[in-house]
Amino acid sequence: MFEDKVVVVTGAASGIGRQTAIEFARQGAKVVVADIDEKGGTEVVAALRNDGHDAVFVTTDLTVEADCRNLIAAVVDGFGRLDVLVNNAGIEITTPFHEMSEHEWDRLVDTNLKSMFLCSKHALREMITARSGAIVNVCSVSGLVAWPGIAAYNSTKGGVMMLTKSLAVDYAKYNIRANCVCPSIIDTPMTDVSNGHDADIKAEKAKLNPIGRLGTPEDVANAILFLASDKSSFITGSALTVDGGYTAI
Ligand SMILES: NC(=O)c1ccc[n+]([C@@H]2O[C@H](COP(=O)([O-])OP(=O)(O)OC[C@H]3O[C@@H](n4cnc5c(N)ncnc54)[C@H](O)[C@@H]3O)[C@@H](O)[C@H]2O)c1
Repeated sequence: MFEDKVVVVTGAASGIGRQTAIEFARQGAKVVVADIDEKGGTEVVAALRNDGHDAVFVTTDLTVEADCRNLIAAVVDGFGRLDVLVNNAGIEITTPFHEMSEHEWDRLVDTNLKSMFLCSKHALREMITARSGAIVNVCSVSGLVAWPGIAAYNSTKGGVMMLTKSLAVDYAKYNIRANCVCPSIIDTPMTDVSNGHDADIKAEKAKLNPIGRLGTPEDVANAILFLASDKSSFITGSALTVDGGYTAI
């Protein structure tokens, strides 16, 4: 489905991003893994190459504009084009809102929202020239409804939601689409950390989804690939829930 396409996935050293990079590669894409985690990113790329796929790792701190600029420049220098940007990297900080430090708030906003501004800004310059492109942002159900206890995280995802719609509106004339996916709890290292790796807590959280299980990174990756593909060519500015029915209640 993505033969000869060049795809950047941020935060692809782990979790949803890692699986997304794998699924794109399986569909024939040349994949650029961007992450601050050199060890994890290098391992993902080594595994992809081992399976015969075309993949590179670019060490990137997505909160730093110079890094994002270099990332997109490296992609265009190396592959000559950029078809898809998946803005996936994100963090969760669970400090209660009234105890949260300014530094923690800034880290959350910079990692979850500013990173998407910086990467999209530089990617869009290439996509405008090409008159073609697709951006898929990894938002969350907490961009739609307030998940209890994580007001700051929810706020960043609300920002991701409006960024997505705004890019869709402003860049449609260049044949560039922007959409986002809104997962509920997905079984990744991020939720392991916030749940303390506790199987009982995971089982309790799974009950929040009418489908009765946690999501998998594959569930989210499949939705991302759809929104990045020509099969969704009339879809832009949309938020696709991947939540086992969580927001349908
Ligand atoms: N896991 C869930 O339940 C869930 C639910 C809804 C939304 N999400 C969103 O999905 C996305 C991926 O989450 P995940 O669960 O796979 O998490 P994860 O912790 O497994 O992976 C996140 C990746 O982002 C990278 N990263 C963090 N800060 C970075 C920075 N400054 N520069 C470059 N890379 C950076 C990490 O190194 C890591 O590889 C996030 O945006 C998250 O908010 C996750």
